[in-house]
Amino acid sequence: MSDVRQVGTRAELLSLPRGAAAGGPVALVPTMGALHEGHAALIRAAREATHGPVVVSVFVNPLQFAPGEDLDRYPRTLDADLEVCAGAGADVVFTPSVAEMYPDGVSTGATDAVSVDAGPLGTILEGASRPTHFRGVLTVVAKLFGLVRPDLAFFGEKDYQQLVLIEQMARELCLGVDVCGVETVRDADGLARSSRNQYLSDEERTVALALSRALSAARERAAYGVPSARWAAMKVLTGEPGLDLDYLALRSEDLTVDLSEEPDLPTTTGRVLVAARVGNTRLIDNMPIEFTTRGGA
Ligand code: PAF
Repeated sequence: MSDVRQVGTRAELLSLPRGAAAGGPVALVPTMGALHEGHAALIRAAREATHGPVVVSVFVNPLQFAPGEDLDRYPRTLDADLEVCAGAGADVVFTPSVAEMYPDGVSTGATDAVSVDAGPLGTILEGASRPTHFRGVLTVVAKLFGLVRPDLAFFGEKDYQQLVLIEQMARELCLGVDVCGVETVRDADGLARSSRNQYLSDEERTVALALSRALSAARERAAYGVPSARWAAMKVLTGEPGLDLDYLALRSEDLTVDLSEEPDLPTTTGRVLVAARVGNTRLIDNMPIEFTTRGGA
């Protein structure tokens, strides 16, 4: 287990070694805490990628929660988080206060503070249900990039749309950060690891398994084309009465093309994505999908 240094201020971050003194590229793993095996996999991936400092940020970002969402009940488990960071090989854990990240206050209006607009890709899928979410995510990630000045940053594929948008932001705003995606970690029964799984009762957790089952069913039928894959996933989802479906989507890997509307495009790889509410908990999941033939069911 490595020794982890906890820092809470911008000033303390300035003492991070840089360049030759750092011994390798600086890697950042942004998180909101409540760390689980999925986060540990991100930290390990960062550790494997560099001999330089691995920084984990733990910050529950108010800007990405809309009023009425779970900002207040989001799990905060700092002592356990520090242990996960140490066990996975992090060097520094950045735990800023809200005032440290937003010295001018947290603005929820779109016009009264500088923020990063997620563009059209931020309005589909998660953005359709959570219209201010990606503005909050991209703004805090841009700030973290500015504060930590990483060469590499690691994000989970579990939040696939978030990953695609952060890659786009880093590329289009020339931030000089190499954004790296890490495969989703699942429990043995298929449930994608998420800090929000803690909200689920045993019964709800069983219902939630329909998400990964539906995605797997779509992948199994992919050889028969997009409509068959979609039908197979919907059969699983509609067969689970405890689940309130938000969307099931089949999209190109960059999320720009809705494959259900363009089933004859010559694309062979894509992503199948799902969001649903189980009780009071909104869950998302996705998997890569490969189509060997296209068109009719
Ligand atoms: O994925 C998350 O935990 C958050 O959205 C992130 C990227 C840390 C920004 O707050």
